[in-house]
Order: sequence, then C-alpha cells, then structure tokens
Amino acid sequence: MTQLYSTLANIYHEMYQHVFNYEKEFIFYDSLLKSTNSHKILEIGCGSGMLARRFLINGYDYLGLDLFNEMLDIARAEIKSDKFIQGDMRHLSFNQQFDSVLITGRSIAYIIENQGIMDTLTGIYKSLKAKGLLVFGVFEANGIFDNFNDFEQTIEHDNKKIKRISKLKKNLSTGWTYDWYAKYIIEQNNELYEYDDITTLRAFTKDEISLFLKLTGFKIKEIIDEEKTLTLIVEKK
Ligand SMILES: C[S@@+](CC[C@H](N)C(=O)[O-])C[C@H]1O[C@@H](n2cnc3c(N)ncnc32)[C@H](O)[C@@H]1O
Repeated sequence: MTQLYSTLANIYHEMYQHVFNYEKEFIFYDSLLKSTNSHKILEIGCGSGMLARRFLINGYDYLGLDLFNEMLDIARAEIKSDKFIQGDMRHLSFNQQFDSVLITGRSIAYIIENQGIMDTLTGIYKSLKAKGLLVFGVFEANGIFDNFNDFEQTIEHDNKKIKRISKLKKNLSTGWTYDWYAKYIIEQNNELYEYDDITTLRAFTKDEISLFLKLTGFKIKEIIDEEKTLTLIVEKK
C-alpha cells in the first residue's frame, strides 16, 4: 500500500492544494447537493479535509471517512472538528442514513479487486436514504492506457519545493490496474529529502463501472466523461 496517506500525509496535504482545484470541486458538489435537497452527507476518502472545511462552513450536516488516521489528524487539527471517522470504504456500517454520499479525489481507484468494488457500492447503497445520491469519480481506462506516459510535477508551498517524478507500469492482475512508482524530492532550507512510493490503482471502462452500479442496485443519472476521468452521478433506486 502507498505511503502517501501515512508517512507522507503532510506532503500530500501541501502538494495537492496545488494539484487539485478544491474550490471548483466544492462548487460542483454543492450545486448537485442543493439540486437534490441533500443536507446530510458522507464524504468517503475525505483525506486531509480540503473539501470538508467547505462543506462545514456552508452548513452541511457532514461526516468524513478515510482509511488513514494520519490524513484525518491533519483535517481534525486544521478544522477543529470531530466530524471525521477512520474506516475502510469496503466495510461501511452506519446506524444512520445519508441524503448523499460522495467518494472524492477518485479514491475508489485504491480498491482494485472486483469484490472490493461490490462491497463498497453495496455498503454505500445501505447507507443512503431512498432516492439518495452517490457521486464519485474514477480513472477512465481508455484515457489512462491509451496515453500511458510517465510524468513530473513540481510545486512550491511556503518555503518548500516538492518535485514528484512518476513512472507507470501496467499491472493487469485484477482489472485495468497499473502500478505508480513515485519519487518525491523535497527541497527546504537548502536540505534535500527523497522518498519512494509505490501504489496500485484501478481504472474502469464506462461499461465496466456501469455494470458494477447496476449489480448493486443503482440507477445512473449522468456520466461526465472528461480527460482520463469519469464522474458518475447515480441514485439509489
Ligand atoms: C487521492 S486521495 C483524495 C483525498 C481527498 N478527497 C482530496 O481530494 O484531497 C485518496 C484518499 O482515499 C483514501 N483511501 C484509500 N483507500 C481507502 C479505503 N479503502 N477506504 C477509505 N479511504 C481510502 C486515502 O487515505 C486518501 O485520503
């Protein structure tokens, strides 16, 4: 499993504020949630809480869930909120139901086994009220495997320069999966630190993720197909 959300959690938190556009993401989710009168929401894969703070400020009855306490500790410390729980999306069990569930940041990419996808979607189905909304993004398999390129990113945060060199390797053992080898090079106060990380991620074709949703009882309302990402807006039947 990746170190990005445990030993490297602070690096993730600093880096991704410059990689993801959280404000734009929040506006997208907020308009969908408002259009369905969703107030009580669960965010799965909430990470260090970059969306959580926006949901909480905007008055949502919010709960964030993540596998890694190191990520949740950053969220708890920065937001000063107890609306975060540690858990695995494959084993959801709540004694309450939500108007909407979001899996943010394409976090379902870490679930590489078919059974894990089925368990995640089944658990979300049970956690939703009737007609409740599930919104999530996945890596789109054609976009990823047709343009299977290594890449580099450099960001600056406070006095720190974070460079990431990423190499991808096909690993088709459980689906449209691939291994992501990342080297993080951190430069701060004239000192250099290096960390290596390996992650296996799963992409989906549109048909494949649609079938998982059909088999777990969801009705697809819309699929937004943007570069390398499918965003699925689905409803509990
Ligand atoms: C790409 S990050 C996205 C974090 C956050 N949504 C954001 O946009 O910054 C993926 C997140 O998924 C979480 N995650 C990975 N596997 C998980 C699992 N099985 N159950 C719950 N969370 C998981 C990681 O800990 C990490 O915080």
